[in-house]
This record gives sequence, structure tokens and C-alpha cells, in this order.
Amino acid sequence: MMSEGIVTVSYIIATILFILALGGLSDQETARRGNWYGIIGMTIALLATIFGVIERHYEILFVALLIGGSVGMLLARRVQMTQMPELVAILHSLVGLAAVAVGFASFMDPDKHFVGVELTIHDIETYLGILIGAMTFSGSVIAFGKLSGRIGGKPLTLPGRHWLNLGLLIGAIWFGYEFVVQSAAGGGMDPLVIMTVIALLFGMHMVLAIGGADMPVVVSMLNSYSGWAAAATGFMLGNDLLIVTGALVGTSGAILSYIMCRAMNRKFLAVIAGGFGTGGGGVAAGGGVEEQGEVIPIDAHETAALLAGARQVMIIPGYGMAVAQAQHTVYEITKVLRARKINVRFGIHPVAGRMPGHMNVLLAEARVPYDIVFEMDEVNDDFENVDVSVVIGANDIVNPSALTDPDSPIAGMPVLECWKGNTTIVLKRSMATGYAGVQNPLFFKENTRMLFGDAKETLDEVLKVL
Ligand code: TAP
Repeated sequence: MMSEGIVTVSYIIATILFILALGGLSDQETARRGNWYGIIGMTIALLATIFGVIERHYEILFVALLIGGSVGMLLARRVQMTQMPELVAILHSLVGLAAVAVGFASFMDPDKHFVGVELTIHDIETYLGILIGAMTFSGSVIAFGKLSGRIGGKPLTLPGRHWLNLGLLIGAIWFGYEFVVQSAAGGGMDPLVIMTVIALLFGMHMVLAIGGADMPVVVSMLNSYSGWAAAATGFMLGNDLLIVTGALVGTSGAILSYIMCRAMNRKFLAVIAGGFGTGGGGVAAGGGVEEQGEVIPIDAHETAALLAGARQVMIIPGYGMAVAQAQHTVYEITKVLRARKINVRFGIHPVAGRMPGHMNVLLAEARVPYDIVFEMDEVNDDFENVDVSVVIGANDIVNPSALTDPDSPIAGMPVLECWKGNTTIVLKRSMATGYAGVQNPLFFKENTRMLFGDAKETLDEVLKVL
């Protein structure tokens, strides 16, 4: 058994490492290092907790660690890059479930020694931990369903849904009061269970009411909730590290939600209240194609010729590049073009793909140099100087109707304005819509050319011709 002093020091070191991890992850060049800080911090935290805090029943702990560790490792090895957001969502749900389980265990603990005000404080911590945990759990399960296409992306708009939410909120507060009062008299299980059911329903309703186009905000919001659930659990267990770590996750998730909202020009509260965005996920929701004119298809030879004749090329990757795993071919083409003194840049939309930083991760994996990868704001004013933009499996993030159609589910979202360049080449397999389920007028513009097919296959051909 470690001494209390060593545990405290280990916790402080782990906290510092977590902060360094977050700092590192904010930039792609330091992200790998940031990951290592996180891994080392978590290892120290686990060791200090196992050997310094826990006193008995090691056999149960190690069996649980073995099962959890193996399942986690298996899932992480198997998961495709395109399924990452779903994995993140389901992991958030586990944090929520853990908070609920710890909350009930802590409430039912026969060795609980709190009395008077201390008991009330502990009860409130327990109640909040279970409340946030249950909301996070059910909300994340629904988010998992939506991101993986098992549940449609269409927002659920129940009649009087805001009143319903208000009713659930008042119910949660009322049962919280009942719980604290009854717990002081030795009871309290009934209001606790009822509140858990209310919180589960609330979490489900909250995410079901949010449309496909606003899912990025939901993912980061649930990330934030999972942090607050962990922090509440930390208060319940009197564990400082859990409080700090939970608060770090909670606040960074909240900041990310804010950044996402700003990127999509949405108001955070409006997203949470729900009802924005329509449509479903990708190919399955390919309906709703309205005729907007003719599209001009081209082949790999013509694409190669256009690229070879350009001086300024902008590559705009989207979710389809992740699906096709085309990033390596994209970089091979980039190298060929750069060798011919063609200036190639990458323009990255903040919500391209299905998770924050999705495209940056893929490009980093393919070893694309960071200094040619730009954020949307850095390049959006420069399309007039671009000869050829290559849109690789992106759709919503280059949709001009976001700027022109106030009724569009993505209305107001800033997009990469590639149509202002000389020529845009769009690589996709069909005329299907993107995540938000809306048709894209870009495809019908005079200076747009469509290169149909799987992005990896068509780019392989382009590379061969080049
Ligand atoms: P989308 O609008 O979803 O468009 C992706 C396009 O890729 C589809 O139209 C699809 O068309 C094409 N595609 C799919 N597989 C392909 C393949 N193998 N080869 C070539 N093309 C392929 O993606 P986006 O432009 O990146 O926009 C992101 C969307 O996801 C936004 O609506 C955003 O709000 C939402 N979202 C983002 C996040 C985060 S945090 N980034 C999280 C959740 C949701 P075809 O089927 O015709 O090929």
C-alpha cells in the first residue's frame, strides 16, 4: 500500500500531465506528444489509485480491468477511421453508465458514515452524479445510433417538446428534493430511481431532437457532460484527481462545443433546444435529389490534364476521403504536382468529416506537411486566385445554399467557397446528399466538373495518368 503522500504527489503529476496532454493535442505537430503525456498520466493515475486508494477485493478489480482492458483494446484495434466518432460516442456512454453505477453503489454503501449537513451534501453529489451520468449515457447511446446510421438523422419533434423538457427538469428538481429529505430519514431509493428514469428519457429526447447537421455540437457536448459526470463522481468518492480530470474534460468539451457552434454559426442553446437540421446520413439518405440542371462529368484523364495545367490547386477533403481511405493517394498526387512547381494547399472545414480534426488526422497519417494544410478562414478569401479546387468526398462543407437559402438545414454555416475559383472538380460516387441530407447546387455550376467513382479508385487513376 502506497502512503497518502505518494498518492497525492502522483495525482498532482498526473494532473499536470493531463493539462500538458490537452495543450499538446491543440496542435497537430505536438498532438503525438500530447497523447503520450495523456497515456503516462493515466498510467500513473491508475497505479496510484490501485495501490494507494483501494484497500481490498483486488481479485474483483483485476478481473474487471482484464475484461474492460481486453474489450477496449479489441475495439480500438478493429475500429475503422470512419467509425471513430461512433466509438467516441459509445465511450462517453460508458462514462455516464459508470457515474450512475458508482452513484447507486455509494448511496447503498452500508459503511456510509455521513450525518447531518455532510449527508445532505453527499446526497446532492450522488444525485447530481447519477442525473448527469444517466443523461450522458442515454444521450450518447442515441448519438452512437445516429452517427452509425442505425437511427435516422431526422430530428424528432414531439408536440410541445419544450414543455416536455421543462416538465422533466421540474420533475428532476422535485425528486431531488424528495430524495434528500427521504435519505435523511433512512430511505430515498424510490425518488432516486424515478429521477434516473427521467434523466434517461431526457438524454434520449435531447439527442433525438437534434438534426443531422448539428450532430458535431452534440458529440462535443456529450464529451463535456461525460467530464461533468466524472467530476460529480469524484466529489461523491472524495477523489481529487477524478474531480480535476472530470473538470478538464468538462470544460474542454464545453469550449469545443462553443468552437463547433461558432464554426457552424449556431447558437449553443438553440442547438440544445433541438429541432435544427434535417435529413439522414450519407448514401442511405440519398433521396431528395431535386433537378437543378445538368452536371458535367469528367474522367481521370481530363482531371489530370486540368491539374497539370494549374498553378494554384486547393484540395478540400471531406467525409468521403475518410470512407475511401484516399489520403495516401491524395498526398502522392500532391507530391507530383509540387514537383512540377504547382502550389498545392489543403483547405480544411472545421466540421469536415465526422469528428473535430478528422481530416487533419487523416492527412497527418499520410504525412502531408502541416505547412500546406490551412483552416477554412485562412483560405476562404483566396479562391479567386485558385485555378483548380479538388473536392474529395466533401459535400455539406462546400454547399453554397448554406449562404443563400435561409430555409436550408445548414443555413448560416460558413462553407469553403470553392465555386469562386476557376474550376472545381468534385469527387464522389453518385449524386447522393451528404450528412445534412440537402442537395448541393455546387454540382450544377458551370465551372464544376464531377468525377464520379470511389475517391481512392479515381485518384489512383489520376495519379497514374499524371
Ligand atoms: P458530407 O456532407 O457527409 O459528404 C460526404 C460525401 O462523401 C457524400 O456526399 C458522399 O457522396 C461522398 N462519399 C462517401 N463515400 C465516398 C467514397 N468512397 N468516395 C468518394 N466519395 C464518397 O461530408 P462533409 O462535406 O465532410 O461534411 C461533414 C458533414 O458531417 C456536415 O454536415 C457536418 O455537420 C456533419 N458532421 C460533422 C461532424 C464533425 S465534428 N466533423 C460530426 C457529425 C456530423 P456519394 O455517396 O455520392 O459518394
